[in-house]
Amino acid sequence: MTLDEKIGQLAQVNAAGGHVPDHLRDAIREGRIGSVLNEVHVDTVNEIQRLAVHESRLGIPLLIGRDVIHGFTTVFPIPLGQAASWNPTLVEEGARIAAQEAAACGVNLTFAPMIDISRDPRWGRVAESLGEDPYLTGVLGAAMIRGFQGDDLARDGSIAACAKHFAGYGASESGRDYNTTNIPENELRNVYLPPFKAAVDAGVASLMTSFSDLDGVPASANTFLLKQVLRDEWHADAMVISDWESIKQLAVHGFTENDRESAYQAATAGVDMEMASTAYADHLASLVREGRISEPTVDAMVRNVLRVKFRLGLFDNAQTDAAAYAPAANADHLHAAYNAAVASAVLLKNDDWALPLHVESLDRIAVIGPLADDPYEQLGTWIFDGDAAHSRTILQSIREFVGERATVEFARGVQTTRSRSHEHVAEAVALAARSDVVILVLGEEAILSGEAHCRADITLPGAQQGLLEAVSATGTKVVLVLMAGRPLALELAVPHASAMLYAWHPGTMGGQAISDLLFGVVSPSGKLPVTFPRVTGQIPIYYAHKHTGKPATAESFIHMEDIEPRAHQVSVGNTSFHLDAGFTPLFPFGFGLSYSHVEYEHMQCSTAVLTMTGRITISADVVNVGPRPVEEVVQLYVRDLVGDVTRPVKELKAFTRVQLARGERRHVAFTLTARDLAFYGRAQRLIVEPGRFHVWIGGSSNPELRAEFTLVDDTAR
Ligand code: GLC
Repeated sequence: MTLDEKIGQLAQVNAAGGHVPDHLRDAIREGRIGSVLNEVHVDTVNEIQRLAVHESRLGIPLLIGRDVIHGFTTVFPIPLGQAASWNPTLVEEGARIAAQEAAACGVNLTFAPMIDISRDPRWGRVAESLGEDPYLTGVLGAAMIRGFQGDDLARDGSIAACAKHFAGYGASESGRDYNTTNIPENELRNVYLPPFKAAVDAGVASLMTSFSDLDGVPASANTFLLKQVLRDEWHADAMVISDWESIKQLAVHGFTENDRESAYQAATAGVDMEMASTAYADHLASLVREGRISEPTVDAMVRNVLRVKFRLGLFDNAQTDAAAYAPAANADHLHAAYNAAVASAVLLKNDDWALPLHVESLDRIAVIGPLADDPYEQLGTWIFDGDAAHSRTILQSIREFVGERATVEFARGVQTTRSRSHEHVAEAVALAARSDVVILVLGEEAILSGEAHCRADITLPGAQQGLLEAVSATGTKVVLVLMAGRPLALELAVPHASAMLYAWHPGTMGGQAISDLLFGVVSPSGKLPVTFPRVTGQIPIYYAHKHTGKPATAESFIHMEDIEPRAHQVSVGNTSFHLDAGFTPLFPFGFGLSYSHVEYEHMQCSTAVLTMTGRITISADVVNVGPRPVEEVVQLYVRDLVGDVTRPVKELKAFTRVQLARGERRHVAFTLTARDLAFYGRAQRLIVEPGRFHVWIGGSSNPELRAEFTLVDDTAR
């Protein structure tokens, strides 16, 4: 390969529109391109690959990239919703189907899974994430990678995955996208990096660097991340691709003078392929010729790119036979999307068994709200290839289910989720007043979450709170269904609904899934993958927080409205809480109700003392004491009471789903070793320390049962 041909492999350019423009044709023939993104017309992709293989000197096929984030034509719930299923098998299945539908169009690289940990739901990209917890994100991110890549990247229907955005992007200040991040190395290693390590361990073919600067060094030029962590510590051989023009943006950050210096910084830090901008194409060759970058450095970058192409089998066949694939959005794919939407919904409130609804006892059902019958909005963000024509909306599905058994009437109530006009509220209120139940579907349009779509106030937008209160004031029972790309601050909404079902943006089959959940055809089993704040001002609020030296307790908390006039300064407070919001979330991580009731009993540890080489089994009985079958996500949390650095009050270490018939008792056991208790200490090395540990088993991060064990160092002699 000539130097120019090597550098050509490092360029990913945007292509779209179903044709190959002359400039792209020439660039491919001259070996100046290694990849395109955003072309999904299979005939055009095949022509692009034909040009690369048969009309360039070396005949190197291209990577064809696309954002296949939560489905392709068949749209699954947004990743944050899928995370609420706590079901790796289901997440893997969704990725596998998305990969098949994308591969049928010639796509061989997806820019997913997005595994940024975020504890700030103001950030729009929390919608693409798998939640706030490193362990859950790592398990589900690995499942997505397995789904995308299969067990053989060269097999039809497998596409290369891309773990993104490496790293720390979710800590963007104030939840404002692209904003700076400052993360102490210890927190970076204990919180933000573990999901990426899990992705590397799962064999992810590539990683994408983030737009953000990390402690003053943009991720796309961050030698600590790209060399020390990824290559030297993790020994990863994955390809590293920049984000869209994130190499060019190094100068915008003020980290470099110009594109030439940006090319130098990114290449020497370890970014292999440049997305969309041309700093490498314009400057790498001269940087090599003047000796600032060695050609072996470029060779290593090219090797990382070619390795993915070899693993994909592109040198054997770069053409796509669309007929070899099942049709997109076929019945099986839609059914899988339905299952995912059912498993992703979280029941947050269900007073007096408001749900499930019994259609035989209902005459008039009101379906109200701007998201009740919108095939597009329920798909959520990042659905470039989604097709709303396949969507089943809530209204359609309820009408079909209810049939002639009751009257179903619809009113929008507000024009959009953002509109402030109350002009349609009266019609909705009148409908509510003459109905037996209101199914009110509120939340966020898809555009209000996702990349660059952040909100400083995460309450219900527009006039929706007013609509909810007006409908509730009629006295008709309100079942509130929420579609959103983030947790919303719902403290003011909760009192006005008898039941609340959080559906996220549930995808193509979301309406069918929600209708079946509301009428009890299926039961809710989702658990929150992210903490729900009472008010925006509590953010960041997350379950794995530190204890602090003055932790708040129910006893120490006093609401500011309850403070006596002229109270002495030290008479109130003195622990860590907000005077106007307290210190607990509205709904905690891991929380979710069902149509039954589960109790936990008889927690046991197999030993009170765990050795460095031993194992401990922690178990409990889970009993379905309610009226219906239930699927429960049993969760195991651990607390390291004393550490080389302060440790979280709880950390999720394991979970499992159990299905219980009415009255059924199941013995659930988890096994831990000392390695499961490892963390990065002050020296930034992974350590395991002897000491006392609390351990919990339960159905949320406010778990029911606690035990204790001690880890001893039996290796010291
Ligand atoms: C975007 C996103 C990234 C995406 C890429 C390609 O700006 O940050 O997640 O994969 O560009 O669309």
